[in-house]
Amino acid sequence: MEAILGQLEAHRKEIEAFELTTPQQVEEYRIKFLGTKGIVKALFGEMRNVPNEKKKEFGQVLNDFKLFAEAKYDAAKDATANSQPSTVNLQDLSLPGDVLPAGSRHPISLVRSRIISIFQRLGFAVADGPEIEDDWHNFTALNLPENHPARDMQDTFYISQNPDWLLRTHTSNVQIREMQKGKLPIRIICPGRVYRNETISARAHCFFHQVEGLYIDEHVSFADLKQTLYFFVQELFGKDVKVRFRPSYFPFTEPSAEMDVSCFICGGPGCRVCKQSGWVEILGCGMVHPTVLENCGIDSNKYTGYAFGMGIERITMLQYGINDLRLFSENDVRFLRQFTGAV
Ligand code: DAH
Repeated sequence: MEAILGQLEAHRKEIEAFELTTPQQVEEYRIKFLGTKGIVKALFGEMRNVPNEKKKEFGQVLNDFKLFAEAKYDAAKDATANSQPSTVNLQDLSLPGDVLPAGSRHPISLVRSRIISIFQRLGFAVADGPEIEDDWHNFTALNLPENHPARDMQDTFYISQNPDWLLRTHTSNVQIREMQKGKLPIRIICPGRVYRNETISARAHCFFHQVEGLYIDEHVSFADLKQTLYFFVQELFGKDVKVRFRPSYFPFTEPSAEMDVSCFICGGPGCRVCKQSGWVEILGCGMVHPTVLENCGIDSNKYTGYAFGMGIERITMLQYGINDLRLFSENDVRFLRQFTGAV
């Protein structure tokens, strides 16, 4: 024990004298005193030779020594790291700061905002609904009962905890939820994310975005629908754009139509975007089916209404000439930073 205390004193002196001005010296010091085969470790190894009644006292002495050795190392490490011959430390306060890129709006978000603002000017309010939905709101209430063949086109993801829950396939569930509130008239648009069980490719994805529209009041007619949508596309694509309505089928509207706009790229003669037809399909629409109104407790003899639904990705792709749906969700900054302003 006495012998070890003597050694400790000698090591202390050695530590005090150890010159630590270069990183190499600091490393040598670390290995010699603090390394796994270093002096501190070796001294702690002596503990087993110390009689039990002295262990506590000896432990304290050793600990002090260890802290002493470490303190010198820590101070020297910081000092030599800072004394590296580099210009990093020479702060020139007049230099401009680091540039923090501000990012930009996602193209889907830009187009969604434009769509919303056009309808808001027409008096439509924005309504929201759940993405995890029950079967009734997503299908049955919309006149798509179980085993209806039209369900095939909208296969989706089901929640295993409850077979009645699914990821909504369209924003039309918000129509139902708004109508159920029983407050009429209704004039809403519902932007949101929707899901389909699709294999991902340039033209299909397992999620995308839609904007739904719904107007219910007394005496609402197909003429109101046409005029509203005509105004909308003129605002979005320009005053020269023409529209045409083609008969179509949706279980929740009767009559139903598909609306096309004259190709805003070529103006009519035909190009790659409109597949040489001069027209591009924009949305589905129609007069709300009386069964849907009744399912939500609305008197279909008194009230009528129109509805429409469009895909935001589709409109964005047309407007910006984007040809692959996957680009929207890959988060590649080279793609995203191209969309900095308004459409
Ligand atoms: N829900 C339809 C779909 O996802 C789109 C749609 C068509 C919505 C016609 C409507 C409508 O409200 O009237 O394919």
